[in-house]
Amino acid sequence: METIQNNEIISMPRIGDIAPDFEAVTTKGKIKLSEFAKDKWIVMFSHPADFTPVCTTEMSGFAVRKPEFDALNTELLGLSIDSVHAHLGWVQNVRENTGVYFDFPIIADLDMKVSKKYGMLQPNESETAAVRAVFFIDPKKKIRLVMYYPLNVGRNMNEILRALEALQTSDKYKVAMPLDWKKGDKVIVSPPKTLDELNARIADDTLEKVDWYLAKKSLN
Ligand code: BEZ
Repeated sequence: METIQNNEIISMPRIGDIAPDFEAVTTKGKIKLSEFAKDKWIVMFSHPADFTPVCTTEMSGFAVRKPEFDALNTELLGLSIDSVHAHLGWVQNVRENTGVYFDFPIIADLDMKVSKKYGMLQPNESETAAVRAVFFIDPKKKIRLVMYYPLNVGRNMNEILRALEALQTSDKYKVAMPLDWKKGDKVIVSPPKTLDELNARIADDTLEKVDWYLAKKSLN
């Protein structure tokens, strides 16, 4: 979806859209999104600025939990409207202070090209800093989930990982995930679409049923 703000085209990618392509300079060299992380999921996230406190806690969270993203076949991709030089200085500063190393590419979006394509620049929040966005992009480069947080509230890493695993599990088993679903919990089977399916659903004793339209099953 594109809107015009101050004579400028601002796009807000939506769930189901193909992720807008871009080329960018990162802390791990140049990347082109359409060629990045082939056959993998991507969690692309923005932060307002390097060397700021909330951002440092969030980036450290992504770094510390990276093995869990690896296990979910997912590459991390950070972004802020800072130079690569600033990114490198911050990565090194955090490593020296805490031992945590940001071992994933961070886009240096100084010209704001990527931020504007992804609705990360929300001028009523800040005209110069990206908000805290998270885009979940599947291996077909389709956007599957979007989060936007303001500058003053850090994100929840447990929720980011939970949502990623929920998306992947939903795709794999063609089921839906109920409130607060986490790995190991029962999942929702889709409601019947014909009378035959309705009758089969009513007769199925293996499901946990509240009623014919709300039934859960175990995946293990
Ligand atoms: C922070 O990360 O602490 C922060 C960055 C920009 C604005 C407000 C807070």
